[in-house]
Amino acid sequence: MLDITASFQHPSSDRAPKPGEQCIAAMNVSHTYRGDDGQRVAALRDVSLSVAPGEFASVIGPSGCGKSTLLGILAGLDAPTAGVVLLDGQPTTPRQRLGRIGLMPQRDLLLPWRTALGNAVAGLRVHGVPGNIARAQARDLFARFGLSQFERAYPHALSGGMRQRVALVRAALASGPVLLLDEPFGALDALTRADLRHWLLEAWQGLGKTIILVTHDVDEALLLSDRVFVLSPRPGTVRAVIDVALPRPRDLAVQGSAEFVELRRRLLTALEAQL
Ligand SMILES: Nc1ncnc2c1ncn2[C@@H]1O[C@H](COP(=O)(O)OP(=O)(O)OP(=O)(O)O)[C@@H](O)[C@H]1O
Ligand SMILES: [Mg+2]
Repeated sequence: MLDITASFQHPSSDRAPKPGEQCIAAMNVSHTYRGDDGQRVAALRDVSLSVAPGEFASVIGPSGCGKSTLLGILAGLDAPTAGVVLLDGQPTTPRQRLGRIGLMPQRDLLLPWRTALGNAVAGLRVHGVPGNIARAQARDLFARFGLSQFERAYPHALSGGMRQRVALVRAALASGPVLLLDEPFGALDALTRADLRHWLLEAWQGLGKTIILVTHDVDEALLLSDRVFVLSPRPGTVRAVIDVALPRPRDLAVQGSAEFVELRRRLLTALEAQL
């Protein structure tokens, strides 16, 4: 059910980051792929961004501008062709980031032969967490995400929204303080999206994580975020940073406020300037 009365607290309001404090940052990150035919594709060019502890940041930009590439690099799946990724101000290698940063990929990639709970604990098990401990942690989040009745269901028997929530639980469980979400609600209908935004904000409040969300949805970015990074078309580079100083807790009604309408206008203008 869509709960339009839900209010969204800022999880870090009692531990607001100090100015300049950074949790994860990309410095002058560029990435060029070499395709199977030897052709080079420049996906990212000189991307610099910094996200503070407990901050909710979004990345928005046209299809193919390198958003998934950026998240893959931040998560340690790929080494950038140039530039560096910092964690807590320290330069890191991809291997040092792998497993410390949670990534929910663009497709949910649930294993069809595992139950919902089995899928959710997969990341923890890889890290050697004993099964009973992993399952207890997952059950906690399943309750929070409205999945308790579906622990034993296999992915084919779950709705699209449920599959996304299972994937979200898996990413949240397997990560340290940073969670990267690649269009987690991309393929869902508007009502399910709205519902899952609510789940995400609830989870964010409870977990106190730093989140970087990739989305194509301007309203979603503004409703959820403290800041929105706007990328140019490929090769993607940061063209604008929009501060979303809307008060928290937020509810869906904020979308009708003059401040929200003005932020939407600024964000759309920044996006259109790229075309
Ligand atoms: N493994 C790869 N090998 C070669 N080229 C790649 C590879 N992965 C991505 N690319 C290319 O890099 C560019 C950026 O891709 P990426 O998936 O990062 O874009 P995106 O912004 O996430 O797009 P979308 O919004 O459609 O998901 C694209 O031109 C894509 O074709
Ligand atoms: Mg992508």
